[in-house]
Amino acid sequence: MSDDTTAADLVRTAHDDAALPERFENPGLPPHRPRMADTDPAADKRAERQVVALFAISVLGTVGALVAYFALPSDGTVESVRQTTLLLGLGLFLGMAGIGVAAVHWAKTLMSDHEKVEDRHPQRSDDATRAAAIQVLRDGAADSGIARRGVLKGAVVSALALAPLSIAVPLIGEVGADWNVSKFRHTVWERGRRLARDPSGTPIKASDVTIGSVFHVIPEGLADEDHWIEEKAKAVVLMVRLDPRDLTEAEDRKDWSYEGIVAYSKICTHVGCPVALYEQQTHHLLCPCHQSTFDIADGAKVVFGPAKRALPQLPITVDEEGYLVAQDDFNEPIGPSFWERLK
Ligand code: FES
Repeated sequence: MSDDTTAADLVRTAHDDAALPERFENPGLPPHRPRMADTDPAADKRAERQVVALFAISVLGTVGALVAYFALPSDGTVESVRQTTLLLGLGLFLGMAGIGVAAVHWAKTLMSDHEKVEDRHPQRSDDATRAAAIQVLRDGAADSGIARRGVLKGAVVSALALAPLSIAVPLIGEVGADWNVSKFRHTVWERGRRLARDPSGTPIKASDVTIGSVFHVIPEGLADEDHWIEEKAKAVVLMVRLDPRDLTEAEDRKDWSYEGIVAYSKICTHVGCPVALYEQQTHHLLCPCHQSTFDIADGAKVVFGPAKRALPQLPITVDEEGYLVAQDDFNEPIGPSFWERLK
């Protein structure tokens, strides 16, 4: 459009357009092209023979499947099961595909080839149907008696108006809730606290932990804590003893294990499921929720899955009686990452 086009020009153009006939003509149907089978009797016969052959293939396939089922029963060996399954599958495939392809070929080559046009009917219902629908609604309202029962009307309106509050009020209450996530930074593990079996609470001696064994661990005396269930949810640990030669330990973590015994948070760093499926040969720990996999032999680093960081480690040692004890809390906050984490 040139710079000196005026509003009047635009209006005039719009009016001119309105005066134009329809821009796109209905192209209609393309000219009818007769098929070979319509004009050539030999082609018609050929198409018929093809359809018959396809149905015959279907018959042979079905018979073949039955023969495979009855005449070649599997003797239980993998090889015979394979063979029977292959022949059965082949027979069924030919039986079904033969019918399908024959039907399509028959329709395309031999059935009548008249093009038909079916106009769409208007979407709008006719006036009588619309009036009937409105009458149904009116009858329903009249049946309910709501117009002449004032108290009932008030009760319905009150119930409908108040019902959303049961959802809205708790949500509004959350606005002022304790959103301080610092409580997730620490657990009840502390220096000298013994590692105990979950759920009995019996403390564990290092000498009880054999190579390859797995212990589900809680802090000793957990049941005496306030809110012990919440504390347990954060403090659960999976402890494994490996051959120390299999362990790959970072320089600053060399003294966090004890003679091959390592302890890691059981809370998945993806979205917090308990990670407790230990694969002894690979030393992999699998989370059942979304298959995050952690390598216990290498700092519980993520080797597969959606988790983005290693499981936090609980540094451990033994006390003078030989019981396993924590050296401190976990090395970092347990569980899924959250927005106020420092690391
Ligand atoms: S919670 Fe463990 S992988 Fe998702």
